[in-house]
Amino acid sequence: MTQQKIATIFGATGFLGRYITQDLAREGYTIRAASRTPNKAFFLKPYGNVGQVVPFPCDGSKKDIEKAVAGADLVVNCVGILFEKKKDQFTAIHTDLINEIAKAAAKQNVARLVHVSALACDQGASKYAASKLAGEKKLAKAFPDAVILRPSVVFGTEDNFFNMFARMGRVLPALPLIGGGHTKFQPVYVGDIAEAVKNIATASPEAFKKFAGKVFELGGPDVVTFKDIYAKLKQHAEINFIALPLPWAVAKIEAAILGLLPKPLLTTDQVESLKTDNVVAAKGAKTLADLGVKVTSMDAVLPSYLKQYSYKKRKAAAA
Ligand SMILES: NC(=O)c1ccc[n+]([C@@H]2O[C@H](COP(=O)([O-])OP(=O)(O)OC[C@H]3O[C@@H](n4cnc5c(N)ncnc54)[C@H](OP(=O)(O)O)[C@@H]3O)[C@@H](O)[C@H]2O)c1
Repeated sequence: MTQQKIATIFGATGFLGRYITQDLAREGYTIRAASRTPNKAFFLKPYGNVGQVVPFPCDGSKKDIEKAVAGADLVVNCVGILFEKKKDQFTAIHTDLINEIAKAAAKQNVARLVHVSALACDQGASKYAASKLAGEKKLAKAFPDAVILRPSVVFGTEDNFFNMFARMGRVLPALPLIGGGHTKFQPVYVGDIAEAVKNIATASPEAFKKFAGKVFELGGPDVVTFKDIYAKLKQHAEINFIALPLPWAVAKIEAAILGLLPKPLLTTDQVESLKTDNVVAAKGAKTLADLGVKVTSMDAVLPSYLKQYSYKKRKAAAA
């Protein structure tokens, strides 16, 4: 009997993590869903057969990380935060944690490690970007064959981007176009990222050589600005609002206030991030195509979950 392969996923409970868990479970991997609060990972169990997806306690300590990766064939890290709740948390989560995971994986002779970073982390001046880039550098040193994925903004049913703006657009008369709304994005479908991880996991040793130690920039088929994103929201969620240009300086003041909320809608660091385009480099970048993934458009997916925000469609469904 062939032994089942083991994949340890840090951040399996998150938005990307649940899709990656699902795809790897389908490939027959036993999944260790490493989490600070393993109870939160119970919802992942139906993604596999009985006992195939195992919530695995991991408090982020060296000891717990080593236990989580011991004997694993594949380690995936998709832990991340968008704002700091305490000082230096970006460094702790985006730099130090992946460093410890990489060191533990190397020590335990794990064959493959995939790390989810962020697009344009080598360009922006935000603390978020700097911490992601520093994490990539530590990772490359500790586990040179690691595969780094840098997604642009990710869309899918549980995303915190289109859903958040749709919720806001439903109740507010206007939504901001920060810095005029000219920043470019290349939204990428969450299922395409999971497929990329699956392809890296299942590649033959020969094919894997093309991925090992490489950085991949993940973007979808559409390059859009915030104006375009708001247009998509209006179209698919059938909501109406005014798109209001907000100069950078005003956005910074607004973010300084909103940043005080326990779960801020906007922080000054995010305003800083928005000053850099979030698109796949025009030349030389390795992309989803190099990982064998055909990209999915926003129009193919957005209607399926944005329709819940449409009063018209909800009324029609209730009638
Ligand atoms: N979503 C996007 O649009 C996007 C775009 C570019 C890059 N990324 C990157 O992709 C990765 C996954 O993003 P996501 O959207 O799936 O994030 P998410 O839904 O917020 O999930 C993040 C995961 O990180 C873990 N986590 C959060 N805070 C933690 C902490 N203080 N200590 C330990 N673990 C913690 C959580 O696990 P537990 O609570 O179970 O421990 C959760 O499963 C992140 O690295 C993110 O920066 C995301």
